[in-house]
Amino acid sequence: MNNLVIAVDGPAGAGKSTIAKIIAEKLNINYIDTGAMYRAITYKCLQNNININNEDEVIKIAKNTEIDFRDNNIYLDKRVLKEEIRTMEVSNNVSNVAKIKEVRYLMVDVQREIGTRNSVILDGRDIGSYVFPNADYKFFLVATPEERGNRRYKELINKGYEVNIDEIINDIVKRDEIDSNREFAPLVKAEDAIEIDTTGKDINEVVESVISKINI
Ligand code: CDP
Repeated sequence: MNNLVIAVDGPAGAGKSTIAKIIAEKLNINYIDTGAMYRAITYKCLQNNININNEDEVIKIAKNTEIDFRDNNIYLDKRVLKEEIRTMEVSNNVSNVAKIKEVRYLMVDVQREIGTRNSVILDGRDIGSYVFPNADYKFFLVATPEERGNRRYKELINKGYEVNIDEIINDIVKRDEIDSNREFAPLVKAEDAIEIDTTGKDINEVVESVISKINI
Protein backbone atom coordinates (compact mmCIF):
# COMPACT_ATOMS: atom_id res chain seq x y z
CA MET A 1 0.00 0.00 0.00
CA ASN A 2 1.22 3.50 -0.80
CA ASN A 3 1.96 5.92 2.01
CA LEU A 4 -1.00 7.92 3.13
CA VAL A 5 -0.54 11.70 3.17
CA ILE A 6 -3.03 13.96 4.94
CA ALA A 7 -2.60 17.74 4.72
CA VAL A 8 -4.07 20.04 7.37
CA ASP A 9 -3.67 23.74 6.58
CA GLY A 10 -5.14 26.95 7.88
CA PRO A 11 -4.41 30.21 9.66
CA ALA A 12 -2.64 30.57 13.01
CA GLY A 13 -4.33 29.00 16.01
CA ALA A 14 -7.09 27.24 14.07
CA GLY A 15 -6.45 24.04 16.05
CA LYS A 16 -4.54 22.26 13.33
CA SER A 17 -1.89 20.70 15.53
CA THR A 18 -4.33 19.52 18.22
CA ILE A 19 -6.51 17.86 15.59
CA ALA A 20 -3.61 16.46 13.55
CA LYS A 21 -2.04 14.86 16.64
CA ILE A 22 -5.28 13.07 17.57
CA ILE A 23 -5.86 11.87 14.00
CA ALA A 24 -2.25 10.60 13.83
CA GLU A 25 -2.83 8.52 16.95
CA LYS A 26 -6.17 7.20 15.76
CA LEU A 27 -4.78 6.16 12.38
CA ASN A 28 -1.41 5.11 13.79
CA ILE A 29 0.55 7.32 11.38
CA ASN A 30 3.25 9.95 11.94
CA TYR A 31 2.49 13.56 12.75
CA ILE A 32 4.67 16.35 11.36
CA ASP A 33 4.28 19.84 12.80
CA THR A 34 5.77 21.86 9.93
CA GLY A 35 5.29 25.13 11.84
CA ALA A 36 7.69 23.78 14.46
CA MET A 37 10.40 23.66 11.78
CA TYR A 38 10.05 27.37 10.97
CA ARG A 39 9.87 28.09 14.69
CA ALA A 40 13.07 26.08 15.27
CA ILE A 41 15.01 28.10 12.67
CA THR A 42 13.62 31.32 14.17
CA TYR A 43 14.62 30.18 17.66
CA LYS A 44 18.15 29.41 16.50
CA CYS A 45 18.44 32.84 14.82
CA LEU A 46 17.26 34.58 18.00
CA GLN A 47 19.67 32.53 20.13
CA ASN A 48 22.49 33.64 17.84
CA ASN A 49 21.41 37.30 17.86
CA ILE A 50 20.76 37.26 14.13
CA ASN A 51 18.75 40.16 12.75
CA ILE A 52 15.68 38.43 11.30
CA ASN A 53 15.42 41.09 8.60
CA ASN A 54 18.84 40.18 7.30
CA GLU A 55 17.79 37.43 4.89
CA ASP A 56 21.32 36.36 4.01
CA GLU A 57 22.17 35.76 7.65
CA VAL A 58 18.94 33.81 8.23
CA ILE A 59 19.57 31.69 5.14
CA LYS A 60 23.12 30.98 6.33
CA ILE A 61 21.75 29.75 9.66
CA ALA A 62 19.08 27.62 7.94
CA LYS A 63 21.66 26.00 5.66
CA ASN A 64 23.80 25.07 8.65
CA THR A 65 20.95 23.55 10.62
CA GLU A 66 19.81 19.99 10.88
CA ILE A 67 16.09 19.57 11.49
CA ASP A 68 14.60 16.18 12.16
CA PHE A 69 11.41 14.61 13.49
CA ARG A 70 11.50 11.47 15.58
CA ASP A 71 8.69 10.02 17.70
CA ASN A 72 6.67 13.18 17.09
CA ASN A 73 9.46 15.37 18.52
CA ILE A 74 11.38 18.01 16.64
CA TYR A 75 15.19 18.01 16.83
CA LEU A 76 17.33 21.04 16.11
CA ASP A 77 20.94 20.02 15.52
CA LYS A 78 20.25 16.75 17.35
CA ARG A 79 18.75 18.49 20.42
CA VAL A 80 15.07 17.99 21.17
CA LEU A 81 13.01 21.21 21.29
CA LYS A 82 9.94 21.69 23.42
CA GLU A 83 8.34 24.85 24.76
CA GLU A 84 11.20 27.18 23.83
CA ILE A 85 9.81 27.47 20.30
CA ARG A 86 6.32 28.52 21.52
CA THR A 87 7.29 31.83 23.15
CA MET A 88 5.80 35.14 22.00
CA GLU A 89 9.27 36.20 20.87
CA VAL A 90 9.46 33.28 18.44
CA SER A 91 5.82 33.79 17.35
CA ASN A 92 6.45 37.45 16.65
CA ASN A 93 9.38 36.69 14.34
CA VAL A 94 8.56 33.36 12.70
CA SER A 95 6.52 34.66 9.75
CA ASN A 96 9.40 36.84 8.63
CA VAL A 97 11.67 33.82 8.62
CA ALA A 98 9.07 31.63 6.90
CA LYS A 99 8.60 34.08 4.04
CA ILE A 100 12.17 33.51 2.84
CA LYS A 101 12.08 31.22 -0.18
CA GLU A 102 15.46 29.59 0.46
CA VAL A 103 14.43 28.73 4.03
CA ARG A 104 11.22 27.18 2.73
CA TYR A 105 13.06 25.07 0.14
CA LEU A 106 15.17 23.56 2.90
CA MET A 107 12.19 22.81 5.16
CA VAL A 108 10.05 21.46 2.32
CA ASP A 109 12.82 19.00 1.38
CA VAL A 110 12.71 17.57 4.90
CA GLN A 111 8.90 17.43 4.85
CA ARG A 112 8.78 15.64 1.50
CA GLU A 113 11.48 13.22 2.53
CA ILE A 114 9.56 12.20 5.65
CA GLY A 115 6.27 12.09 3.74
CA THR A 116 7.58 9.74 1.08
CA ARG A 117 9.03 7.34 3.64
CA ASN A 118 6.00 7.05 5.96
CA SER A 119 2.27 7.58 6.19
CA VAL A 120 1.88 11.05 7.66
CA ILE A 121 -0.44 13.83 8.63
CA LEU A 122 1.22 17.24 8.32
CA ASP A 123 -0.09 20.55 9.54
CA GLY A 124 0.99 23.89 8.12
CA ARG A 125 0.11 26.59 5.65
CA ASP A 126 1.16 25.25 2.25
CA ILE A 127 0.97 21.47 2.65
CA GLY A 128 -2.00 20.86 0.36
CA SER A 129 -1.17 23.71 -2.02
CA TYR A 130 2.57 23.27 -2.42
CA VAL A 131 4.37 20.58 -0.40
CA PHE A 132 2.05 17.66 -1.23
CA PRO A 133 -0.30 18.80 -4.01
CA ASN A 134 -1.26 15.14 -4.52
CA ALA A 135 -2.03 14.45 -0.85
CA ASP A 136 -4.72 11.81 -0.31
CA TYR A 137 -6.74 14.16 1.88
CA LYS A 138 -6.61 17.91 2.34
CA PHE A 139 -8.30 19.86 5.09
CA PHE A 140 -8.38 23.60 5.67
CA LEU A 141 -9.34 24.60 9.20
CA VAL A 142 -10.59 28.11 9.92
CA ALA A 143 -12.10 30.00 12.88
CA THR A 144 -12.63 33.66 13.74
CA PRO A 145 -9.52 35.53 14.96
CA GLU A 146 -11.20 36.06 18.37
CA GLU A 147 -11.81 32.36 18.83
CA ARG A 148 -8.31 31.48 17.67
CA GLY A 149 -6.85 34.10 20.00
CA ASN A 150 -8.87 32.82 22.94
CA ARG A 151 -7.79 29.25 22.37
CA ARG A 152 -4.14 30.22 22.14
CA TYR A 153 -4.52 32.42 25.23
CA LYS A 154 -5.91 29.54 27.29
CA GLU A 155 -3.22 27.19 26.01
CA LEU A 156 -0.41 29.57 26.99
CA ILE A 157 -1.96 30.45 30.37
CA ASN A 158 -2.29 26.72 31.14
CA LYS A 159 1.39 26.31 30.37
CA GLY A 160 2.18 29.04 32.90
CA TYR A 161 3.00 31.93 30.54
CA GLU A 162 1.99 35.46 31.42
CA VAL A 163 0.30 36.63 28.26
CA ASN A 164 -2.14 39.25 27.19
CA ILE A 165 -5.14 38.40 25.00
CA ASP A 166 -4.83 41.50 22.81
CA GLU A 167 -1.18 40.80 22.20
CA ILE A 168 -2.05 37.25 21.12
CA ILE A 169 -4.86 38.24 18.76
CA ASN A 170 -2.55 40.87 17.33
CA ASP A 171 0.18 38.31 16.71
CA ILE A 172 -2.27 35.91 15.05
CA VAL A 173 -3.69 38.57 12.73
CA LYS A 174 -0.25 39.88 11.83
CA ARG A 175 1.14 36.42 11.09
CA ASP A 176 -1.89 35.55 8.94
CA GLU A 177 -1.29 38.68 6.94
CA ILE A 178 2.39 38.00 6.35
CA ASP A 179 1.73 34.29 5.68
CA SER A 180 -1.08 35.00 3.19
CA ASN A 181 0.76 37.72 1.33
CA ARG A 182 4.22 36.27 0.94
CA GLU A 183 5.32 35.68 -2.61
CA PHE A 184 6.37 32.06 -2.36
CA ALA A 185 4.01 29.28 -1.19
CA PRO A 186 1.64 31.50 0.80
CA LEU A 187 -1.11 30.42 3.17
CA VAL A 188 -3.93 29.46 0.83
CA LYS A 189 -6.71 26.92 0.70
CA ALA A 190 -5.96 24.33 -1.98
CA GLU A 191 -8.79 24.11 -4.51
CA ASP A 192 -9.55 20.53 -3.54
CA ALA A 193 -9.25 21.00 0.24
CA ILE A 194 -12.22 20.42 2.53
CA GLU A 195 -12.81 23.53 4.60
CA ILE A 196 -13.97 23.11 8.19
CA ASP A 197 -15.03 26.11 10.23
CA THR A 198 -14.13 25.20 13.80
CA THR A 199 -15.66 28.31 15.41
CA GLY A 200 -17.78 27.17 18.34
CA LYS A 201 -16.85 23.52 17.81
CA ASP A 202 -15.02 21.48 20.40
CA ILE A 203 -12.03 19.28 19.60
CA ASN A 204 -14.08 16.07 19.35
CA GLU A 205 -16.51 17.56 16.88
CA VAL A 206 -13.70 18.68 14.61
CA VAL A 207 -11.91 15.33 14.88
CA GLU A 208 -15.18 13.58 13.98
CA SER A 209 -15.73 15.73 10.90
CA VAL A 210 -12.20 15.08 9.69
CA ILE A 211 -12.31 11.33 10.38
CA SER A 212 -15.70 11.00 8.66
CA LYS A 213 -14.09 12.15 5.40
CA ILE A 214 -11.23 9.64 5.53
CA ASN A 215 -11.71 6.15 4.09
CA ILE A 216 -8.92 3.77 4.86
O1 CDP B 1 0.52 26.88 15.84
P1 CDP B 1 0.34 28.16 15.09
O2 CDP B 1 -0.90 28.15 14.27
O3 CDP B 1 0.49 29.37 15.93
O4 CDP B 1 1.54 28.29 14.07
P2 CDP B 1 2.56 27.22 13.58
O5 CDP B 1 1.87 26.13 12.84
O6 CDP B 1 3.45 26.84 14.71
O7 CDP B 1 3.41 28.06 12.49
C1 CDP B 1 4.21 29.14 12.85
C2 CDP B 1 4.53 29.95 11.61
O8 CDP B 1 5.35 29.16 10.73
C3 CDP B 1 3.36 30.41 10.76
O9 CDP B 1 2.79 31.62 11.19
C4 CDP B 1 4.03 30.58 9.39
O10 CDP B 1 4.70 31.80 9.30
C5 CDP B 1 5.07 29.48 9.38
N1 CDP B 1 4.65 28.28 8.66
C6 CDP B 1 4.76 28.29 7.28
O11 CDP B 1 5.10 29.31 6.71
N2 CDP B 1 4.49 27.16 6.57
C7 CDP B 1 4.11 26.05 7.18
N3 CDP B 1 3.89 24.94 6.45
C8 CDP B 1 3.96 26.02 8.58
C9 CDP B 1 4.22 27.17 9.30
